[in-house]
Amino acid sequence: MPTTVGTRPQPISQHSRPKTVYIKTYGCQMNVYDSIRMNDALAKDGYSEVSNMEDADLVLLNTCHIREKAAEKVYSELGRIRKLKNRRKHTMRPLTLGVTGCVAQAEGEEIIRREPAVDLVVGPQTYHRLPDIVARASNGSAVVETEYAVEDKFDYLPAPDSKRTRSRGVTAFLTVQEGCDKFCTFCVVPYTRGTEVSRSARQIINEAKALCDAGVREITLLGQNVNAWHGDGIGDEEWGLGRLLQELSQISGLARLRYVTSHPRDMDEALIAAHREIDILMPYLHLPVQAGSDAILKAMNRKHTAAEYISLIKRIRQTRPDIALSGDFIVGFPGETDADFEATLDLVDKVEYAQAYSFKYSPRPGTPGADLENQVEEAVKSERLARLQALLNQQQVNFNQSFVGKSMDVLLEKPGREDGQIIGRSPWLQSVIVDASSGRIGDIIKVEITEAGPNSLQAVRSLDA
Ligand code: SAH
Ligand code: SF4
Ligand code: F3S
Repeated sequence: MPTTVGTRPQPISQHSRPKTVYIKTYGCQMNVYDSIRMNDALAKDGYSEVSNMEDADLVLLNTCHIREKAAEKVYSELGRIRKLKNRRKHTMRPLTLGVTGCVAQAEGEEIIRREPAVDLVVGPQTYHRLPDIVARASNGSAVVETEYAVEDKFDYLPAPDSKRTRSRGVTAFLTVQEGCDKFCTFCVVPYTRGTEVSRSARQIINEAKALCDAGVREITLLGQNVNAWHGDGIGDEEWGLGRLLQELSQISGLARLRYVTSHPRDMDEALIAAHREIDILMPYLHLPVQAGSDAILKAMNRKHTAAEYISLIKRIRQTRPDIALSGDFIVGFPGETDADFEATLDLVDKVEYAQAYSFKYSPRPGTPGADLENQVEEAVKSERLARLQALLNQQQVNFNQSFVGKSMDVLLEKPGREDGQIIGRSPWLQSVIVDASSGRIGDIIKVEITEAGPNSLQAVRSLDA
């Protein structure tokens, strides 16, 4: 930049103070990852992250549209922030308010109509333009950017910064694939995240190396359909996720790999084999099935039967016998009868999940399911959800208790609630409370499990202190 000679001293204005940003994240892990990338992009533009909304010049809500409740939460939060914004209106610190993420993509300008305090609305595909959008919005004109950008945002977002990565801990997310072409009839994701796009292997490997250089020990690859990832490998070879995992497993310093979320139809042989071949690939698989009745699976457009799912699980378990399975379920999809619901319970009985999420069907505007006439009554949905959750919780308790008295490797992640305790993770994604000193964060140690609760394990004895 050329130096200007003889400029007059500038009056001290709000711009001479470092700008601050607070991002509140809703929804899935991809939003967590996106919030980090947005913070990094804004840091390049002089924004520092604060942990309190009151201290921020810029507040962004990174939102989720998956169920009605998730979307409505955003509007009640916006109402609260409007009051803060009004209080700050005529001060030296006006507040800029933005909505990003899937509600932004789905509702666009409608957000500003419903809540005029909002200054900017930005969909997930244009985060790389955020500093520019914020600058425009801070000047008083509302900005809505929900077009899919022609350029690839990942080519423009800054690479992970090593100091900032280090401060975030020893585990990290890395988006490898975004969007979805599957159009399950209940789901908004194909509309909010767009069509399925895979990042290049080169870009992913570079980002993973940068994370590991900054001290990350565990990387979880993310995608709405992560196992649909495919890309150009070395030479003319087309790679799938199994091959990509092989390559990533060679990165020095990396101790654990995971990936989420997978679709049963994209679980190919190479990926299943990766669970046997790659020792740092953790024995845990989130493989949502949603329902156990073939009629409902068909109506949901899942494109597989319950029997096909069960036989897939069998093959995966033959390849990696200690693998833990996790899933997602929806109860009360339109037309679901008592017999259909019993088929879901039956499938859960057969699979035995280590952990699972379950939801009442929420009709989403614009999806085919919302227009079906045979919607299930709320009371029936609630009753089914309670029964399903009781079964899933029991399976989770059984799974956790099966480890009492056994030893396992735990990656020490962060300080626990009490002095001398560290929270770690088992290979099967359980939280483990370990008696260890904070200096050991980032280490993998062998412990003996002494107690098991529904949500965590306890280990007082480190076997290799
Ligand atoms: N890509 C993943 C799911 C992403 S959404 C997959 O294919 O499985 C995460 C979960 O939210 C879904 O698995 C589903 O169980 C739930 N979900 C999605 N849409 C929903 C809706 N309309 N009502 C209730 N739950 C829903
Ligand atoms: Fe949604 Fe189905 Fe795509 Fe998963 S596979 S993101 S549930 S449309
Ligand atoms: Fe929600 Fe969007 Fe994730 S709708 S679940 S934040 S992809």
